[in-house]
Amino acid sequence: MRTLTLTFLSSLLGVALLNSCGSNQENKQKAMIEKSAFGTTADGQAADLYTLRNAEGMEARITNFGGVIVSLTAPDRNGNYQDVTLGFDSLASYEKGSPYFGSLIGRYGNRIAKGRFTLDGKQYTLATNNMGNHLHGGIKGFDKVIWNAQPIEGEEPALKLTYTSKDGEEGYPGNLAVEVTYTLQKDNSLKIDYKATTDKPTVVNLTNHSYFNLAGKGDILGHELTLNADRFLPVDQTLIPTGELKPVAGTVFDFTKSTPMGARINDSTDTQIKYGLGYDHAWVFSDTSNTLKQVATVYEPTTGRVMEVSTTEPAIQFYTGNFLDGTLTGKGGVTYAKRTGFCLETEHYPDSPNLPKFPSTTLRPGETYQSTTIYTFSARK
Ligand code: BGC
Repeated sequence: MRTLTLTFLSSLLGVALLNSCGSNQENKQKAMIEKSAFGTTADGQAADLYTLRNAEGMEARITNFGGVIVSLTAPDRNGNYQDVTLGFDSLASYEKGSPYFGSLIGRYGNRIAKGRFTLDGKQYTLATNNMGNHLHGGIKGFDKVIWNAQPIEGEEPALKLTYTSKDGEEGYPGNLAVEVTYTLQKDNSLKIDYKATTDKPTVVNLTNHSYFNLAGKGDILGHELTLNADRFLPVDQTLIPTGELKPVAGTVFDFTKSTPMGARINDSTDTQIKYGLGYDHAWVFSDTSNTLKQVATVYEPTTGRVMEVSTTEPAIQFYTGNFLDGTLTGKGGVTYAKRTGFCLETEHYPDSPNLPKFPSTTLRPGETYQSTTIYTFSARK
């Protein structure tokens, strides 16, 4: 009996040992996508929350309210996965006054001056919601609507969201059929594919507005940023581009070499920093073709976490959470103070409909708007 028990115990131990030093393959989990309820909007619509997990254990939670990424985990240098995004625990908080935490943005990411533009000789007036300008799609943009959701199972779980924006919505012409697919890939990257078609000439500029903090706490000033861009767009006091493409060389906007986000953020001698209250500008890439290119890398030294951004877009808005002021209570009761999150919003240039020398954001019937952005997470030892 005793021998039997011992043999049984040692074989158990053997299995346990095998498991703990087993190959990566054995440590992997099954990729999955799961749906749960997220609450009901003020006007009575049900919202769902989709949890996507890959075999590494990385997890994205996305709601069909505003296509919001509610949380996203990433590994640190010890393999610990932690949420690296800002957000709320409840749907009500997202509805009440979110500064676009994790949201899909449309029809137009960033600003259109005075909410006006002319297309094919016709003037359009959009909803204005930011210092007299139109920002992030207006008063009820794509961040505040319920999207149809279709979960897609597989090794790389995906969530396809669709929404039809009606002719005249927020002032835009044309019925716009939009499709956004989030895919959690095997290599710990979250891919976002955007598509749109219209039945009248219109303008489109879609993005995602996630706020990241790769340390999972504190401010983002020690995060080191590289931007593969040698020019940026100076703005006026209401954050509308002046039209100039200014070289970053010799300015506090030069991130061509990895530099802490906070190193020059309070440079009071720089008018652009003053206007943005920090960084709140678009950097433009020399490659304006619609091909995927690696444009940004962020490294967080205390955890080793790295985030890389690739996109087909010609620009990226780097925003350092300058308007966060500690009044919002987020996930787990955390308050979000100034500069506790940063955004890297891939996009066409702000106010392009009014600045004809910028790459065009016009979409015509028969054409398909297409854009892809990938956020890839890893860690350095
Ligand atoms: C804009 C900021 C704005 C923030 C939140 C960013 O994309 O550039 O000016 O405060 O979004 O609304």
